[in-house]
Amino acid sequence: MKKYFITTPVYYVNDKPHIGHAYTSVAADVLARFHKLQGDDVFFLMGTDEHGLKIQKKAEEVGKDPQAYADEIASEFKDLWDKLGIEYDTFIRTTDEKHKAAVQKVLQTLFDKGAIYKGEYEGLYCVGCEQFKSENELVNGRCPDHDTDCEIVKEESYLLKMEELQSELVKKIGNDEFEIKPEKYKKEILSFLTKEKLKDVSISRKNVKWGIPLPFDAEHTTYVWFDAFLSYLTGLGWPAFAKASAGKDGDFEKFWPADVQLIGKDILRVHATIWPIMLMHLGIPQPKLLFTHGHLLSGGRKMSKTIGNVIGIDELLEKFGTDGTRYLLMSAGTFGEDVDVTMERLTEKYNADLANGLGNLVSRVLKLSSNPKFQIQMSNKIPNPNVKTSNFIEKFEMDGASDCIWRIIREDDKFIEESKPWELVKTDEKKFQEVMQKLVSDLYLISELLIPFMPETSEKIKKALETKEIIILFPRMGK
Ligand code: MSP
Repeated sequence: MKKYFITTPVYYVNDKPHIGHAYTSVAADVLARFHKLQGDDVFFLMGTDEHGLKIQKKAEEVGKDPQAYADEIASEFKDLWDKLGIEYDTFIRTTDEKHKAAVQKVLQTLFDKGAIYKGEYEGLYCVGCEQFKSENELVNGRCPDHDTDCEIVKEESYLLKMEELQSELVKKIGNDEFEIKPEKYKKEILSFLTKEKLKDVSISRKNVKWGIPLPFDAEHTTYVWFDAFLSYLTGLGWPAFAKASAGKDGDFEKFWPADVQLIGKDILRVHATIWPIMLMHLGIPQPKLLFTHGHLLSGGRKMSKTIGNVIGIDELLEKFGTDGTRYLLMSAGTFGEDVDVTMERLTEKYNADLANGLGNLVSRVLKLSSNPKFQIQMSNKIPNPNVKTSNFIEKFEMDGASDCIWRIIREDDKFIEESKPWELVKTDEKKFQEVMQKLVSDLYLISELLIPFMPETSEKIKKALETKEIIILFPRMGK
């Protein structure tokens, strides 16, 4: 049995979960479910990133204790994953005691071996990114991702050695020992690594209270990214004393290295530099693949409360339901590229593909098959239905996989129009049987192929085929 370990980023709890978080998580869930269907032993890790200045500031702003605030938001994340049908195996929180103990152990180990040393750090810090920025990453002196000014930070700090491992990192990325996909992102990182020397990274903060204290200097807390990266390991119950505290316990020996770590393009640079270098210092193998997706835009622009173009994930769920939302997110465009969505277009797509396309085909076939002259032959099992979509899903082409399902739906619609089973039932019963058998088998096939994307719908279709009950899967939506 092949193992398959997949992770999403651990999300910040400074604010409620949004559509961007849902995008990464639904994609990871589709991949996890697909691999389960292939018979793989899957472990799917998610969680929340709960320390750092951004969260400290937000908690202060709302007048709450940071832990109480983090608890509140972490449970909102979990609720959202339930509503979206995300079947994760563990939910690691960076404020879990066991995670904190593991982080301290790593810090001590790396300090003892000289990979972490005391120094001073001076630089421009973006609180939104929780990252130091070099001048050439800024646009008009501001962080382009958050459109904010950076803070000038100059303080005593502990640093992690980076540069000494740079050439080894370049080698690992170059020979795909640590693979970065899509190719353009691998190129981007390699070109950055060959042009610029990696500065040693400051891994501690003197002025941030909300963080894990350094075991060797209680005046400092751990830099939030250093802490967060380790959740990919602690969520697996690593090291042995730090078992995962929610969901089933992972098994580091069995599941590491990760088969895929899904991230958005905004967090590629840190994932392709600090994270692999931390692993090298620890003597732990690299994840096999870092897959980077693009951003969801709204009306061609970044979603932002100030612009007022944010598409609420609750709004989507309310309007389109769990499976409708999952489908719309995954079929919106090429995974890996930026994808532009508007409520209007999502509604159109829902009506075209779900209400009229899939929903209509299902109710037509059910209605026709309820004719007593049709004897359903259930023995016609589909040998390995997922071959049809596996080529796409294995390449992270989720939209390609759904296109492939919708091609069958369109062909069947056409087939019904052309073969006119409602006439055949009166004129040629044998032909009627044949036509209906094909349609029913296709519905089974479609329901199998839909499992990773729309698990509830897939169940509903199968059940309706057994009971011959006419169902309305997706009511049409107004604007
Ligand atoms: N806490 C860090 C990750 C630490 S992992 C060791 C973090 N958290 S986050 O809450 O800001 O969001 C993380 C994920 O959400 C990223 O993969 C990011 O790309 C994704 N998205 C945030 N906005 C997005 C869109 N508008 N569209 C698609 N995904 C986006 O970064």
